[in-house]
Amino acid sequence: MLNKIGVIGGGYIGGVLAQEIAQRRLAREVGLVDPAPFVNPDDPPERQEVVGKQSVAIGKCLDIAEGLPTIGKDVKLVGSKDYSAIKGADLVINTAGVPRKARPDGTFPTREELLTINLKVTNQVAAGIKEMCPDAIIISIANPLDAIVYTLNKALNPAKNKLMGMAGQLDSGRYCYFVAEAANVSVENVNAMVLGGHGDTMVPVRSSCQVAGIPVTKFLDDETLKAIEARTRKAGGEVVGLLGFGSAFVSPAWAALEMAECIAFDKRKILPVCARLEGEYGADNLFVGVPCILGKNGIEKIIELDLTDEEKAAFEHSAGAVRKTCDEVETMSL
Ligand code: LAC
Repeated sequence: MLNKIGVIGGGYIGGVLAQEIAQRRLAREVGLVDPAPFVNPDDPPERQEVVGKQSVAIGKCLDIAEGLPTIGKDVKLVGSKDYSAIKGADLVINTAGVPRKARPDGTFPTREELLTINLKVTNQVAAGIKEMCPDAIIISIANPLDAIVYTLNKALNPAKNKLMGMAGQLDSGRYCYFVAEAANVSVENVNAMVLGGHGDTMVPVRSSCQVAGIPVTKFLDDETLKAIEARTRKAGGEVVGLLGFGSAFVSPAWAALEMAECIAFDKRKILPVCARLEGEYGADNLFVGVPCILGKNGIEKIIELDLTDEEKAAFEHSAGAVRKTCDEVETMSL
């Protein structure tokens, strides 16, 4: 168990995180930061006074805390509108930023199109972490995932093991779910990795996909697998299109919690993680999804897989797409 986990952003993902950290008792204390709701300076003073006293973070923490006697868990929950709630956290999970949302005509932006707006938020996130918990291990979820982790690295320059992004676990979960559904077997039987960037170029690695240790090709034909892999690459957008009000939030939160559990309990489980590559997989100074051993120090080791030529080319293509977004980060004035 950790002493304290800080959650930045009290939206849908942040809310599930705070609730589940308490339910699973991953830490003795949870700190939740969110500046919402914002006071509108154009509103009448009485309205400004009302909104000034409201806080999504404090409200969500109180709501969860009042449920603790029912579930029989002793966890301290602290919410704040500024970054004080994450003071002294051993682990920070960053969800801050706007999610993808369906437009009135049903279309929706790519994750990369969130870059400009979410970069500004990320600079505040970095400043908050630097001030309140500079030694924390950081798991970032905000989009565009890989470029936001790259930005946090630029701002904070932490040790390689201490900063990572959550995407591969979510994307692999989606891949496994679709395979389990098509093969009509338990989700517990399916194992697979999705590597590369958290965008439409992500790489579902078929050679890593097994059902009860047996290659997936024993269960599903090429055409079915191709359709599943294509659906996996677009799965985040499928949920955005269905929800209408935002993007997926339960499965991303559970995926980040799986990573947090590995760290809190020093499990040394191998999961796909957005990690800093320094020569691994032929990439340098780039954050991309690769298999990692996760333990008490965060990323304990990056595992280099023997990919097929086709998978290798797909990984390089995906890393190239991530590099392009990171180049945009470099050109934007922060
Ligand atoms: C998704 C978002 C959270 O893939 O990136 O659903």
